[in-house]
Amino acid sequence: MVWQANHRYKQVLQQTVKNLCEGCHVKLETPNYGPEIGTALVTAIAKRTKDNRKKIKKFLEELKLPFEILQEIQARLRQEMERGLVKDTHKNAILKMFPTYICQKPEKEEGEYIVLEFGDQDINIMYVNLGEEHCLKRTYKLPDTIKKGKGEQLFDHIAECLLDFQETENLSGKKVVSFIFSFPCEQTDLKMAKLTQWTKGIEASDCVGQNVVDLLQQAINKKEDLSLDVIALANDTTGTMMSCCSHDPSCEIGMIAGEGTNACYMENRDNIETVKGNEGQMCVNMEWGAFGDNGSLDDIFTPYDSEVDRLSINPGKQRYEKMIGGMYLGEIVRQALISINKEVPFNQDKQSNILQNENLLSLEDLCDIETDELSMAQLNSVLLQRGLCCTSDGALLVKEVCRAVSQRAAQLCAAGIAAVVEKIHENCQDERKISVGVTGSLYTEHPHFARNLTKTLKNLIPGKEVNFKTSDGHGIGAALIASVAEKTRKTL
Ligand code: GLC
Repeated sequence: MVWQANHRYKQVLQQTVKNLCEGCHVKLETPNYGPEIGTALVTAIAKRTKDNRKKIKKFLEELKLPFEILQEIQARLRQEMERGLVKDTHKNAILKMFPTYICQKPEKEEGEYIVLEFGDQDINIMYVNLGEEHCLKRTYKLPDTIKKGKGEQLFDHIAECLLDFQETENLSGKKVVSFIFSFPCEQTDLKMAKLTQWTKGIEASDCVGQNVVDLLQQAINKKEDLSLDVIALANDTTGTMMSCCSHDPSCEIGMIAGEGTNACYMENRDNIETVKGNEGQMCVNMEWGAFGDNGSLDDIFTPYDSEVDRLSINPGKQRYEKMIGGMYLGEIVRQALISINKEVPFNQDKQSNILQNENLLSLEDLCDIETDELSMAQLNSVLLQRGLCCTSDGALLVKEVCRAVSQRAAQLCAAGIAAVVEKIHENCQDERKISVGVTGSLYTEHPHFARNLTKTLKNLIPGKEVNFKTSDGHGIGAALIASVAEKTRKTL
């Protein structure tokens, strides 16, 4: 009544709604039917919403991992670790538990190093002077044609980047290089690292089975103006752990939660049956991304995971990584949304097939979408930029799916760390405090991943003190490795 009789009331109400729903277009209108019809409509909408919620819940349930399952996953991973360490089972083991030939944590290290880092999308080159704690860094993009081209071209390109770095930073003269190569390698020495397979979307030919240190050195030697000697190769997990160890002696584990995922830890030499010698410790590169490749995680894969795996360049491989790594999370979300959209259409743009676009959502998008402080208008704008045109309910649904996927990733990662902590405690027969050095944008940039990881870990290993320390990158770690490597080489 007031609405119809009082024009001013109408205006104020309209304005207030506009202010409250900034960015949304809300128009209040007088209906040309009576309140009974309105009530019937509201009831119908409420029923539809309830039915839709029921359907959506069914999809989201698929991504939930009950606590007992997480405990089970921790136990399975712990078992696979053993299989990788023991000589008789190593060959067929899924977790390769590669020895790294890094046997000491850094002490007071010195020296000048060029650190070359190749892990997925970019190439980072650093100059590190350990004594002076001085570090210069440049990032070089890696073109897609090179990622998928010939191996020789890839290493020639890397050598070209090294030359550019040396010239731009005026670093002439002979230098030593520490190579952070974040792909699975079977190492028999610090300079002997056979690539066992490419991961994370790289597929350069003629590299698998080759010693990548040789491939790099050969490419460097082709350039007359480069005088560089590659003295050590390490994985990014190892670089992270070493960098963290340099200011926290209780650091025993290195973990990456970025585009991919992996971990390393200090293991007793006598437990690593694939290397000679049983004195002291050696860092083991677990290559835990491959967990599940023998079917041991089949019971938790959702249809979305299977689809992501099927569309990847390495189906059947790196199954654990494909549930955790930032380069896959957006794809899992997309697959879940495709399924939901079939039953509960939420994408208003019926013409376009936007959900069919591979890599529709990046890790960065997920980080934006899941930010708590985002207003409805901001959320809609992020989704629109990706081509997703949703109602408010639809936008909240996308956010909910992102949440479920990233939460599952954090929980799975926690199960992995819990297994490693359990192993270290068994080795030293005490429950010492352990620090985990960690790098990777999923851990550092995602609004909830780190918190969910810590929370789940606390529940999985109650009473055990584990601290995560974000490392300032692998650069310093790699230089420390090179320095320690020189010393270790003499004692092996
Ligand atoms: C992939 C690589 C592994 C690396 C991880 C994180 O899983 O196989 O070597 O540590 O990505 O970058």
